[in-house]
Amino acid sequence: MENNCMGACESHEHKQGELSRKAVLGGLAAILTGIGLTTLGDTAAEAATSYNTKIKATAIPQGSAKTVTVAGKSILITRPAASTYRAFKRTCTHKPKALRTTLRSGFIYCPEHGQDFDPNTGAPTGFANETNKPLTKYSTKIKNGYIYVTI
Ligand code: FES
Repeated sequence: MENNCMGACESHEHKQGELSRKAVLGGLAAILTGIGLTTLGDTAAEAATSYNTKIKATAIPQGSAKTVTVAGKSILITRPAASTYRAFKRTCTHKPKALRTTLRSGFIYCPEHGQDFDPNTGAPTGFANETNKPLTKYSTKIKNGYIYVTI
């Protein structure tokens, strides 16, 4: 018997070609990012992997940082401006060493060789010239007063 329902009926099984929402969003994010539509790509990725850090936005004073573990990853969350929150993987890009859990003189700091990173962009400041690679950055959003991080 020919199936002309186009997937709208409940009398047939429509397992073939079925994709999970996460797989579709992940693929869409990769395509959009690939063609330069990173804003839409980020939105699609957020839907799949946004985690509540359980840290209230007000718990991080402007100009400071806090460390949290999310999905098994150590994340450094900074607040470089009143309504700006950034999240970075707490691992140096020179060697896989842990960054300090708080800022030092306003900068993210690697105690291994003394590199500083910008708390807004994650870019190395060049003071120590140990690396020219920025920190791995995650997108953030505030929801119901809590900081969410997309990994
Ligand atoms: S390991 Fe961080 S600056 Fe060298």
